Amino acid sequence: MIRIGALALGFFFFATVIFWSFIPGAYTHFFGEHPPKAAEKVFHLEPKDVSFSFDGPFGSWDAQQLQRGLKVYKETCAACHSLEQVSFRSLSEIGYTEAEVKAIAAEFTVPGVNPDTGEAEGRPGLPTDKFPSPYANDIAAAAANNNAIPPDLSLMPKARKGGAPYIYSLLTGYQDPPAELLQKYPEAKPGPGLNYNPYFKNLNIAMVAPLTVDGQVTYDDGTEATVDQMAKDVSAFLSWTAEPTMIERKRTGFWWIGFLIFATILAYLSKKQVWSSIKGKD
Ligand code: HEC
Repeated sequence: MIRIGALALGFFFFATVIFWSFIPGAYTHFFGEHPPKAAEKVFHLEPKDVSFSFDGPFGSWDAQQLQRGLKVYKETCAACHSLEQVSFRSLSEIGYTEAEVKAIAAEFTVPGVNPDTGEAEGRPGLPTDKFPSPYANDIAAAAANNNAIPPDLSLMPKARKGGAPYIYSLLTGYQDPPAELLQKYPEAKPGPGLNYNPYFKNLNIAMVAPLTVDGQVTYDDGTEATVDQMAKDVSAFLSWTAEPTMIERKRTGFWWIGFLIFATILAYLSKKQVWSSIKGKD
């Protein structure tokens, strides 16, 4: 009786898990998806095939690249985007000294209070501050950007399918809408303040192309600052802000796999040892 009860309970959990995992699929099957606009289906592109030093199980950060990416962020993206999960002091992890971190923090203005009047007032950033938003609030951000709020970029490669290659593709993907699109789907023509970008989910993005000319940023390490290079470097930098411990995570994984293989061999050998005396008798 108890056994049947246990079986029934097990089956109940099993059925619940199976059912639960099918709900989203079942929902779209019966009620249908939001119909993506026909033009999106045809013209939307998957991220370009681009490789980064931190790809794959043996990848690692390229500190020079991360520093170049920070420069692109500071001189271009920071005009609109914050990195509110990242404090200046964590820049020491990508090779900056304490004095350099202080200097970088001080280039930014963070919200503060005037000590004499108590009025809200900006002050130079400190290493303990986070990369601030350039706007006082979302209303100001939307007003300055044709009603679209520039999202915080701290976790962007994790928040979008495609990760760093998506950001790279988005930054290098601005182009004129293809003639075929305008012919077939005139309604997909970018509206006022929107720009055609086939890597963006609905093809029309409110962000104007932020990287447009080679040499827009001057790199300290002599690397040529082509648009392609700047896009790659800032995508790498944002991958670091999104998961600064990515490399440690991969290394820890290796240690564990190594340990588990070792433990398996050990278990096998000890099983052999324990049973060796008995085996001979049959
Ligand atoms: C002039 C302001 C401005 C600048 C400069 C700018 N952006 Fe944006 N960005 C925006 C706005 C506005 C949006 C929201 C677009 C939308 O939702 O249509 C956005 C959206 C994004 C997105 C999100 C796209 C998505 O999938 O939702 C990413 C990633 C991004 N920007 C990266 C960058 C990077 C990297 C830089 C610097 C190289 C940069 N931006 C510079 C205004 C800006």
